[in-house]
Amino acid sequence: AKKSSEFKSKLLKELRRVLEDEGNVLKSGTENPYNVQYEGARGNFHDKTPKQIMCELRKIKIKTLKRGDVRGGPSNIGDFLPKRGLFENRKFNSCAIVASAGSLKDSNLGKTIDAHDLVLRFNHAPTKGFEEDVGAKTTVRVLNSQVITREEFKFLQSDIYKNLTVVAWDPSVYKATLEEWLEKPEFNLFPAYVEYKRKNDKARIFLINPQSLWELWDFLQGNSPGRLRRNPLSSGFLGLGLLLPLCNFVDIFEYVPSARVTKRCHYYDPEDNPACTFGVWHPLAAEKLLTYHINTADDHIVFQNGYVRIPGFKNFKC
Ligand code: C5P
Repeated sequence: AKKSSEFKSKLLKELRRVLEDEGNVLKSGTENPYNVQYEGARGNFHDKTPKQIMCELRKIKIKTLKRGDVRGGPSNIGDFLPKRGLFENRKFNSCAIVASAGSLKDSNLGKTIDAHDLVLRFNHAPTKGFEEDVGAKTTVRVLNSQVITREEFKFLQSDIYKNLTVVAWDPSVYKATLEEWLEKPEFNLFPAYVEYKRKNDKARIFLINPQSLWELWDFLQGNSPGRLRRNPLSSGFLGLGLLLPLCNFVDIFEYVPSARVTKRCHYYDPEDNPACTFGVWHPLAAEKLLTYHINTADDHIVFQNGYVRIPGFKNFKC
């Protein structure tokens, strides 16, 4: 218990320091490539109960594009959109989100992860050869538009993107309309989306409405003590937003880092980069502080075992 509480206070201090530094950097004026102009209030999650936070978060619907949302569009994307939303009318009891952090290495969490009804992974994070630490089951992959478009990730060829549900996302400019984004995505993911669907008509692939990404960003800024980086949220937080309406509870593995944390960025890659965990581009520190606030697992689970537990929306009467 002492080990956990010492680690915890060091970790929270570090996350708060990073968040404060970000705010200070912003005061001196920085580039704003997404043209974020936040005009809402800036609160602090600490002044609210987890329930209040969950009830606010529940109002934000992370939407996926459906047939009829787009007429024509680039690569005729409108004709290839699904008729239904992501897991429309489906419910899951236990859901796992596997953040790809280096601290999953030697965690032995594979069996715990695989015991969940739904397992969500990110980008090209492999399971093969890492089963003991990260499990083997994958229900959903959340892919950013770089993974979809860049040759090195082999989106249309590799088996790691097959026989599962793909959720693709690409950030728009802050208040862009859907039409503006379709005309000018950050990475042009539409041709590969269409090709994936053409190859297999039954393939389950969804596109996030980019306006939802910024609604989630506004929610986080509205509940963070400091100013956030004016960049999209990390896909870890997006994954949580996607699953809370569907699951009885969501366990997120090595997102709020455990005592195993090192400088290593990913469990599948030896490269060191502490910014992957604490954030240099995404507003990760704010995401993680808020996530820890709404977590219901005890500190031993969080800081020794390595996961937080967030109850799904259905547990709250708002
Ligand atoms: O690096 P990548 O974006 O593929 O990782 C997926 C997600 O896992 C990130 O968006 C972030 O939320 C989380 N992550 C983390 N700490 C790391 C690496 C990834 O929290 N060291």
